[in-house]
Amino acid sequence: MKAVILAGGTGTRLLPLTRLLNKHLLPVGKLPMICYSLQSLNEAGISDILLVTGRQAAGSFIQFLGSGYEYGVSLTYRIQEEAGGIAQALELAKPFVGNDQKFVVLLGDNLFEESLKPHIDAFEQQPEGAMVLLKQVPDPERYGVPVFDANGYIERIDEKPAHPQTNYCVTGIYMYDTSVFTYITEQAPSNRGELEITDVNNAYAGKRKLAFSHLQGWWTDAGTFDSLLEAAVKLMGAAP
Ligand code: DAU
Repeated sequence: MKAVILAGGTGTRLLPLTRLLNKHLLPVGKLPMICYSLQSLNEAGISDILLVTGRQAAGSFIQFLGSGYEYGVSLTYRIQEEAGGIAQALELAKPFVGNDQKFVVLLGDNLFEESLKPHIDAFEQQPEGAMVLLKQVPDPERYGVPVFDANGYIERIDEKPAHPQTNYCVTGIYMYDTSVFTYITEQAPSNRGELEITDVNNAYAGKRKLAFSHLQGWWTDAGTFDSLLEAAVKLMGAAP
């Protein structure tokens, strides 16, 4: 299976740290943030990886990671010219995914300790559709929040709801079949002018094709100062 890491965006919640440095190159413990995504995928047996980032940062990623050889992976790069949303960045992966039926997507600011392998294995068994990984959090209003129907399926996901209906967060670890690229083209920009990944996931949910699994271990998105600090403390010992 192939994987896509989305490492574009503007990182505005981490200004001024992100004025010169892309968020995913900021240090987390002893390594730049991006290294943890590569380690997780490599550990799960995925080596063919597309990295999507913005024009300004692309040179730094290539200078730092090169072919990916040191991380045991093979990297392909694509440029997202403007930060038009997670789904817009994902659309750039279509030629890379090609005829493969299923692939994994990581938001590059999502850091976690457990292996992706069992979740990917479960998705391999799923005949079609998508899978998201959920995590119970104290502050669901910061995230996509799943709402379940009476049969326990995800009925829909509310993006950053003022009044969350559950205390689960949809993490930035997604698994898709190639119908994702059709669903992306059917979306319109949201109020904030972005193509939202939650709208794409809701297209799957509307067809009851959005499976989920629970992350058991520690997880954070490192997109704020507090979560970046938490990640650095947690992962300090994880690097050689
Ligand atoms: O972390 C999980 C959350 O990530 C989910 O619960 C939300 O449903 C999902 O919308 C997303 O929310 P954020 O507000 O945290 O997304 P953010 O704009 O911070 O972008 C997350 C990653 O996606 C970031 O690592 C960079 C990448 N990205 C983002 C945008 C907007 C791109 O590559 N291109 C983009 O245009």
